[in-house]
Amino acid sequence: MKALFLLLTLIFAPYARDGVSLNGEWSAIVDQYDKGMNKKLFTDAVPSGKTDFVEFSYEGGLKLQVPGDWNHQDPGLWWYEGTIWYARHFQASSRPGPSRILYFAGVSHRCEVFLNGVLVMEHEGAFTPFQADVTSILKDGDNFLAVRVNNNRRKEAIPAMSFDWWNYGGITRDVMLLEVPQVHVKEAFLRLKKGTTDTLLADITLAEPLEGVAVTVSIPELKLEKSFFTDASGKVSGEIRVKRLKLWSPQAPKLYDVTITALADKVTERIGFRDIGVDGTSILVNGNPVFLKCISFHEEIPMERRRACTAEDARMLVDAAVELGCNAIRLAHYPQNEFIVRYAEEKGLLIWEEIPLWQGIDFSNEETYRKAETYLYEMIARDRNRCAIGFWSISNETRPAPDRDAFLSRLLAYGRSLDSSRLFASAFDVAYYIPEADEFRMNDGFAGQLDVVGINKYMGWYAPWPKSAAELRWNVFTDKPLIISEFGCEAKAGVFGNGDTASSWSEDYQASLYRDNLRMFENIPNLAGVSPWVLYDFLSPYRQHPVNQAFFNRKGVLSDKGEKKKAWYVMNDYYSKR
Ligand code: GCU
Repeated sequence: MKALFLLLTLIFAPYARDGVSLNGEWSAIVDQYDKGMNKKLFTDAVPSGKTDFVEFSYEGGLKLQVPGDWNHQDPGLWWYEGTIWYARHFQASSRPGPSRILYFAGVSHRCEVFLNGVLVMEHEGAFTPFQADVTSILKDGDNFLAVRVNNNRRKEAIPAMSFDWWNYGGITRDVMLLEVPQVHVKEAFLRLKKGTTDTLLADITLAEPLEGVAVTVSIPELKLEKSFFTDASGKVSGEIRVKRLKLWSPQAPKLYDVTITALADKVTERIGFRDIGVDGTSILVNGNPVFLKCISFHEEIPMERRRACTAEDARMLVDAAVELGCNAIRLAHYPQNEFIVRYAEEKGLLIWEEIPLWQGIDFSNEETYRKAETYLYEMIARDRNRCAIGFWSISNETRPAPDRDAFLSRLLAYGRSLDSSRLFASAFDVAYYIPEADEFRMNDGFAGQLDVVGINKYMGWYAPWPKSAAELRWNVFTDKPLIISEFGCEAKAGVFGNGDTASSWSEDYQASLYRDNLRMFENIPNLAGVSPWVLYDFLSPYRQHPVNQAFFNRKGVLSDKGEKKKAWYVMNDYYSKR
């Protein structure tokens, strides 16, 4: 069945729209053998008459909170990989006039959405939003919403069969029923025109291909109001001269209330304006070189063993990065929820955001390439108005090979066609120390096309030191900015001593490894930033050591309980002096 109502473009500013939240307690059925379709779980069947019976019933069954992963909500679901049906009733009015958009901020990993028994959309990709226009399906009064959610790992998926984070499943982000005028702002992208400090570019598209409609952009704080008229496809593309524009930067994260009006639609977003670029081996923000004092983290609350999903969760994660002394964050390894992105923007943190094209991807599969394009479009369409995002990253630790090089080159070209205002990057783990040359080198057929190259390198952990850190030289893409996008090692909080022994899992070893790596990084001529792996210890089925890990990857500078390890102080000192 094709979903007839899926909107292929993401609606502009969903959180700024009128509508109702469909968060809360949903009914659920664990459908391990995937019988739900032929048992018609997309209808709320109840027995009728003397001979009828219903086995698959929501009545009196499992309840799950939305948003939230199912894993942490029921001990029987902690390891569950498979299908779970979610369902709920809600009241609505179907009065004529506005369009009703059913919006999901994120479902892990794939789902089909049924409203009143009709398949209205399907989506794959745990970390990007999707929506459908359900105006014609919505009933006056009671409506029944059912979602078939599946989190099985698949070879052709993104990510594929294995990844070093917990395989959370569920409706892990917000669900909303939005109400917008039939003619509304469907897409909008506002940004500073490259090379200027007083000109904005605006690309705005209406949901209807109406010509000659006035679209007005206003920024009251700048006493600015400018109108454009749509072309035959309902689009406007124009320039707006502004006076006294304060640019966003990590030091001064200025945001403006920007209102776009088109006929009955009026929507206001918080938008900042800045330029980001590269000059040789430097990253420039508004023309000024910036060294990324970065940290990577997952979208997870480790002390509660669950996906992060609320504004409060976002504050905890981002505030921990600010306290460490960061001016940037790497949202590993996927687009994280909007609360995190928006709060980081308010706090002046530059953001490296990436799609979960992580290690073992099926690069020879055209279906997988289509999924990658969809992921990249949805990430960029959701966040292109978030000026804090400086980097779109399209892969993590993929291996050089003809099909991978072709796949990523094609994907990079597609990404650049969507957004030419930002830098494109990827993270690689194929920089090696070459004894004959006595330096680190990297041989990769794709990386040279990027604006910024990220290197994940675990010297002292996955790779022993070939010589002292101070003597090691690097010669890796020295014509462009290089970010150490991952380094570090595991340490169990509270274990001390044996600072020279990797298998001690001690804080002292981790701190010593951090000092040695930071010393080595001084020898990288094109170093433009570092991002230790990782802020908090995080959950992963990979991490099986019964005593030291217990399914936690212990590379955090903070433990899963938020305790600062000795390495935290090493990084905090390093960042305070940069
Ligand atoms: C890799 C990978 C991370 C992983 C880390 C590790 O570099 O990018 O996702 O968690 O190494 O091994 O801890």
